[in-house]
Amino acid sequence: MTGTIELGVNIDHVATLRQARRGLVPSPVEAALIAEQSGADNITLHLREDRRHIQDTDVETLRQKLKTRMNLEMASTDEMIAIAQRVRPADCCLVPERRAEITTEGGLDVVSQTDRLRESCALLAASGIRVALFIDPEPSQVEATASVGVPVIELHTGRYCESTGAERANELKRLRASARLAKTIGLEVHAGHGLNYDNVTPVAAIPEIVELNVGHAIVGRAVFVGLPTAVRDMKTLMLAARL
Ligand code: PXP
Repeated sequence: MTGTIELGVNIDHVATLRQARRGLVPSPVEAALIAEQSGADNITLHLREDRRHIQDTDVETLRQKLKTRMNLEMASTDEMIAIAQRVRPADCCLVPERRAEITTEGGLDVVSQTDRLRESCALLAASGIRVALFIDPEPSQVEATASVGVPVIELHTGRYCESTGAERANELKRLRASARLAKTIGLEVHAGHGLNYDNVTPVAAIPEIVELNVGHAIVGRAVFVGLPTAVRDMKTLMLAARL
């Protein structure tokens, strides 16, 4: 048996539903607390520059109320770094962000901005925040991340999730190889993006990966079966993959 694996539940799309009416419900804070009670090991939220789903007040309130860890995803901008320094989540995951994108489309290009990221990550680490970089499963990006000096990477699983057949098998190989390389050079390995109940098992079985962040699939399934069941079902699949 390999070591265990944790589930970070991303609650952004509960906020997406709330923002559709600019009202108060459904509450991402309430969703986060239910997810924690249902087996989530941490709560992930992405405060985007355009505030399309999660709002600043959600971050502040969750910081007070969460019993587990807050994993704040954000772009590496002065505004976001100032917010993180004030709120002090346990974890921050730096992601690339483009206003026009529907969701985070690719990983950070760490290779081309090593020095700038090193500065941002040092500011966050000085506030006691554990920093992760969200990268594509590319050896050059894994190595560049190690040189930035952060303790964690999150591997972007989007291409694996979107592909089929031989291409998917190849994407899985890339995830495995990057996870192995990262662990060898001392990085903790997380993964996420696009994972769902049908595709999660092979990724959860990669022994170097110790945390998966899953959002859209869980919130989507919750519409039909309720959030506690949706969270529990995902966690059960992940843990079964490690047996
Ligand atoms: N991890 C990161 C870094 C992300 O940006 C996202 C999407 O916000 C996720 C995980 C979760 O992706 P999904 O909603 O497709 O499960």
